[in-house]
Amino acid sequence: MTNPVELLRSRYGEIPFNYDLPWNDSVEMILSHGSVRSYLPDPLPSGTLELLVAAQSAASSANMQTWSVVAVEDQERTEELYKLANNQIHVKQAPLFLVWLADLGRLAHIADSRGLPHVALDYIELLIKAIVDASIAAQNATLAAESLGLGTGYIGAIRKNTQEVATLLNLPPFVFPVFGLCVGYPNPEVKAAIKPRLPQSAVLHRDTYKLAEQEEAIARYNDIMKEFYTEQKMNVAVDWSEHSAERIATLDYLKGCKNLRETLNNFGFKLL
Ligand SMILES: Cc1cc2nc3c(=O)[nH]c(=O)nc-3n(C[C@H](O)[C@H](O)[C@H](O)COP(=O)(O)O)c2cc1C
Repeated sequence: MTNPVELLRSRYGEIPFNYDLPWNDSVEMILSHGSVRSYLPDPLPSGTLELLVAAQSAASSANMQTWSVVAVEDQERTEELYKLANNQIHVKQAPLFLVWLADLGRLAHIADSRGLPHVALDYIELLIKAIVDASIAAQNATLAAESLGLGTGYIGAIRKNTQEVATLLNLPPFVFPVFGLCVGYPNPEVKAAIKPRLPQSAVLHRDTYKLAEQEEAIARYNDIMKEFYTEQKMNVAVDWSEHSAERIATLDYLKGCKNLRETLNNFGFKLL
């Protein structure tokens, strides 16, 4: 077991709180997470995919189970997804690429086959429910994968070409690809470092939300990230807060995602 204090120090870049708590393997695994962007070509043992999809154990809004996942192992299709997701090399390196779907198509199909309307699907709330369902299921699968010694990496970049991804995967109406997930054995030569997170004083609010009080924590995090980037020999010249603010200052970061409303309309969602 990793020394808890050292693990907490890696996660926060400092000792975040007085450590005097129960500790277990699950907590340790959660704290040890790091996105993997370099994979070995080794195939996954048989049965691994099915075990990961037992992510179905996650809670689901009203138990409507409004998510699905497409497991892509075919090399040609992975190559296409790699191109659609901004040419990120790990997409085609990983032996398994999971595309997590907000899936209201199944419910639409059930309603259609019973001759019932499905007007509620026209409302954003249902889409949010489905995205939440898909996301927490995906995180369950991520934790399961990490517990098996596998590495994972979320790929939101598939939304830069949502329509093309939907065509490639043969998605029916009311099914929206939320993000991809690379799964495979991490390349041991490229260690995924634990990336520090914001101090808890920025994200943990007691009783009521406080915004102005977060400034000190944000300034501290800028220093922590500067140190992290130096340690990792990453050439990041600007502060985390400046970098993050730049991302929302223009539409550059969004690129292909800009027309998502139109794409969602094409998928059948009215977004009322
Ligand atoms: C929904 C989502 C989409 C993401 N998309 C990408 C992506 O397209 N490419 C990538 O390399 N990392 C992607 N990431 C990984 C984040 O960059 C990463 O989680 C973050 O920098 C924190 O690093 P860590 O996961 O190593 O702790 C994504 C993460 C999430 C949650």
